[in-house]
Amino acid sequence: MTFNAKLIFFTVALVITTFSGVGYAAGDSSTGDYEMEHKHWHFNGAFGTYDKASAQRGYQVYREVCSSCHQLKHLSFRHLGDQGAPFYDERYPNPNDNPLVKNFAADWSIESIDGETGDILERPGVPADKFPAIYPNAAAARASNGGGLPPDLSVIVSARNGGADYIYNLLLAYDAEMPNDMVMGPGLSYNPVMDGGAIAMVAPLSEDLVEYADGTPATVEQMAADVTEFLAWSSDPKMEQRKSAGLMTMLYLTILAILLWFSYKRVWKDVEH
Ligand code: HEC
Repeated sequence: MTFNAKLIFFTVALVITTFSGVGYAAGDSSTGDYEMEHKHWHFNGAFGTYDKASAQRGYQVYREVCSSCHQLKHLSFRHLGDQGAPFYDERYPNPNDNPLVKNFAADWSIESIDGETGDILERPGVPADKFPAIYPNAAAARASNGGGLPPDLSVIVSARNGGADYIYNLLLAYDAEMPNDMVMGPGLSYNPVMDGGAIAMVAPLSEDLVEYADGTPATVEQMAADVTEFLAWSSDPKMEQRKSAGLMTMLYLTILAILLWFSYKRVWKDVEH
């Protein structure tokens, strides 16, 4: 290949790899014969962003269903209103002023200690508070859940092989039929997506469990997709900023490469080579 051809080849290859969607490598965990559904998530690919309406509904599902057992310990309420977050509103660049965020925070009760008496008091949350713990410790969490420990959900989408597809399918797979030769221990449900096929969480979703304000029908699939979208955001809240910074960098480098190419041609134009 001549030098020119190599340069063109390299530039084209660079542009193609950058702009083709580099989605989640959804590695299948051991799901036996269960057919995992690979959803097309809005946040996959180089241009992917979170589907805000879905993530907003997902917060509702988390709040009304999952939050009785699962904490989001890495998040504060104000994170819900950050740039790139489900409830970001450009009128309130400081999420502490965002009325929705204030309402969500106030809907939780936070324990605080009275500075004078040392008594434990309950007060409504404010945006700066973290999502509170649900159980005082792991033993109490297990005792309330038949021995199972509900994991923190803030980074669960990143923590599980298969990411969003895994969480989505886990929530739907309770319907699958249990093989005849399998016996479930007490407090366990059959779930072929879970390693070993048994899970210490009863199916958390059922038709119309929540009532969406935007009128979206609350099917099990819809709630599973929405809560997964929300949890994908909480696992990677800076994704949108990172992707747009990455794209700007690639654009800059591409323009720089073109300029360098022309200056190279010009500088060397009278030289035999
Ligand atoms: C009544 C309590 C309870 C509720 C409500 C609940 N879970 Fe769980 N969840 C658990 C327990 C207990 C476990 C641990 C299961 C185990 O280790 O076998 C668990 C485990 C999980 C896991 C981890 C599975 C794994 O791969 O280890 C995910 C993800 C999860 N729950 C998501 C959710 C979502 C999303 C909701 C709301 C739609 C929800 N849960 C509602 C109790 C609950």
